[in-house]
Amino acid sequence: MAYGLLNGKRGIISGALDEKSIAWKVALKAKEEGATFTLTNAPIAMRMGAIKQLAEHCNAEIIPADATSVEDLENLFTKSTEILGGKVDFVLHSIGMSPNIRKGKAYTDLNYDWFKQSIDISALSFHKMMQTAHKLDAISEWGSVVALTYMAAQRTFPFYTDMADAKAVLESIARSFGYRYGKSHKVRVNTISQSPTPTTAGGGIGGFDKFYDFADKTAPLGNATADQCADYCITMFSDLTRMVTMQNLFHDGGFSMTGISEEIMELINKEQ
Ligand code: NAI
Repeated sequence: MAYGLLNGKRGIISGALDEKSIAWKVALKAKEEGATFTLTNAPIAMRMGAIKQLAEHCNAEIIPADATSVEDLENLFTKSTEILGGKVDFVLHSIGMSPNIRKGKAYTDLNYDWFKQSIDISALSFHKMMQTAHKLDAISEWGSVVALTYMAAQRTFPFYTDMADAKAVLESIARSFGYRYGKSHKVRVNTISQSPTPTTAGGGIGGFDKFYDFADKTAPLGNATADQCADYCITMFSDLTRMVTMQNLFHDGGFSMTGISEEIMELINKEQ
C-alpha cells in the first residue's frame, strides 16, 4: 500500500545492481510513493544491464558514476538537478565493496592497496557525495541523505574483515557531515544498519549463510528483509522524520540489543 510519502520529491538512488539489491527495492518503493529520481551505479555495473529494466519501470534516467570519482559525482548531481527540474530532496548511498573480502584475505593478512580501495569505495565515497552536493548546493532544505551500514562497525564479526573499518568510517562521516549540513542547509544525514541480507555484496562475505541464520535466530523479530529496509529508507526520506539526523539507526529486528536467544541456547544444548 502506498501512502504518497514522497509525492513531489526528487532524489538520487545509487547501488541498484540487480533485483536482490537493497537499492533496487528502494527505487521501486520511492516510485510507488510518488518520487521522481535518477539511478546511478559504477560504469562497470551498467554492463550487466539489469539496471536498465529498473530505469524503464521507474521512468528514471541512469547516470553512471564511479562513487570514488569527484568528477563523476559532480556530473551526477549537476545532471540530476537538470533532469529532475530542481534540487534533490533525498540521496541513497547503497555502495560497498572490499577487494580483500572478494579475494578471501584474512584480517591479519590484508593487502593495503585493497584496504584503501575498500575505504574509498565504501566510506569516503559518502563524504565525496555530500561534499560535492554541498558545494553545488544540490540538496533542498530538509533534504535527507541515507547510507546503508552493518553492525560490524560496533561489534566484531570474523569474516567482515576490512569492511568493518570502512563501515565505522562511514557512520562517523554521517555524524560529522550531518552536523555541518544540518547547520548550513538543514539537510539531515543518517545511516541505517541493516540485518544480513542475501544480495551480491552480502553473499560475498565468508560464512554468510551461517551468520544470516545466527542473526535470524537471535533477533526477536528475525532478520529484516531488503523490502523492509526499503520501507525504512522511504520513511527517512519523508517529512515524517524531519528532526532525525546524525544517527546510526538499527534496522535488524532487535538483534543489536539481544545478548542470546532461547533458540541459540537450544542449539547449544543439543550439541552438549
Ligand atoms: P549490492 O551488491 O546489490 O549493492 C552494492 C552496490 O555497490 C552495487 O550496486 C555495486 O555496483 C555498487 N558499487 C560498488 N563499487 C562502486 C563504485 N566504485 N561506485 C559506485 N557504485 C559501486 O548489495 P547490497 O547488499 O544491496 O548493498 C548495498 C549496501 O548495503 C552496501 O553499503 C552494503 O554494505 C550495505 N549492507 C548490506 C547488508 C547485506 O547483508 N547485504 C547488510 C548491511 C548493510
